[in-house]
Amino acid sequence: MSAPAFFEAPARAEAAEAVADAYRDAFGETPEGVWSAPGRVNLIGEHVDYTGGLCLPLALPHRTFVALSPRHDDVVRVRSAQEAGADWEGSLAEVGAGSPEGWAAYVAGVPWAMGHEHGFDAVVDGHVPLGSGLSSSAALECAVAIALADLAGLPTDDAGRAELAGACVQAENVVAGANTGGMDQAASLRCREGGAILLDTRDDSVTHLPLDLAGAGLALLVVDTRAAHSHSGGEYGARRADVERAARALGVPDLRAVDPADLDEALARLAGQPGAEVLTRRVRHAVTEIDRVARTAQLLRAGRVREVGALMDASHESLRHDYEVSARELDLVVDTARAAGALGARMTGGGFGGSAIALVERDATGEVAAAVRDAFARERLRAPQFLAALPSRGAGRDA
Ligand code: GLA
Repeated sequence: MSAPAFFEAPARAEAAEAVADAYRDAFGETPEGVWSAPGRVNLIGEHVDYTGGLCLPLALPHRTFVALSPRHDDVVRVRSAQEAGADWEGSLAEVGAGSPEGWAAYVAGVPWAMGHEHGFDAVVDGHVPLGSGLSSSAALECAVAIALADLAGLPTDDAGRAELAGACVQAENVVAGANTGGMDQAASLRCREGGAILLDTRDDSVTHLPLDLAGAGLALLVVDTRAAHSHSGGEYGARRADVERAARALGVPDLRAVDPADLDEALARLAGQPGAEVLTRRVRHAVTEIDRVARTAQLLRAGRVREVGALMDASHESLRHDYEVSARELDLVVDTARAAGALGARMTGGGFGGSAIALVERDATGEVAAAVRDAFARERLRAPQFLAALPSRGAGRDA
């Protein structure tokens, strides 16, 4: 049984050179610089970043590159190295709620949210699989944000990056119209090589935690199911609305405020509310998931990475049955990976399609990937794509 090929990230220098070349072709001059930002996977802590919860994402080696030069007027001209003809040109004055539409929102929304008056010319080249639940849109926003911050001399230490993440979330919520939380942008901007971040979404504080997978003889396999998902679609917003309604019914600011020890009592208080059965499951997911993140963080601090597998399994079951954001393809990855010997597996990101992750023995990575590939073929599903999640650096300048 031969192992499937992995989707590798290109070498940094080559990718930077390629996007600079594309810029020269598009605009006839050399760009001021090249910057990039990574996609992410979330180890654990799903669908809790909009209710004051904890998440534990890490940056992928797969990044989106942007070659960019500032302009003296307020015009933004942007081209995609992937898609000829997907150009956008406009003035910052036209940018606002719902405008521009499509992928340009994730580019032009950023200077708008940062309050910039001057535009830029840019070519973007993405190596984060699109629509895969690996935050290709956050990678795009954050690459633009770090470029603009760098050129404007804004701070790019962790506090500066937290500010930039906030602007990127604004761009996504208001301009792109996707009401997502802040995990993806925090991961893309604030992660460091070799570790994950424990993000506390109550105050956006970040703790860097070591994630030495190789040292533990492990690997984190990412399976992009290639089942399309979208966050501007209704389901994500519906879950967010459920959680907000539950918090109101319980009289708490967010579900982080529910102590796991008091969960049963809180659930009992929901009885009699309209839709109590559904709200009960949503609350149970959020409260137990936040607790699982805290326990995962303790394990990472103690260097007990292997034991995270069981918490990943529990997270997936909670997302599948209580939060109802999984999909047939995601469940198939998780079930197959576990049967093939993974220490734990779960969907990652928003769900409804997108990607799953499996914590595997390093030497068994190919075997587990092959088992998943074969299971998809048997079910006559589109062939999935495999990536390795090596904890990588956050957004920065490349050239
Ligand atoms: C998407 C959103 C994030 C987060 C996850 C679920 O990735 O962009 O803010 O809510 O879903 O954890």
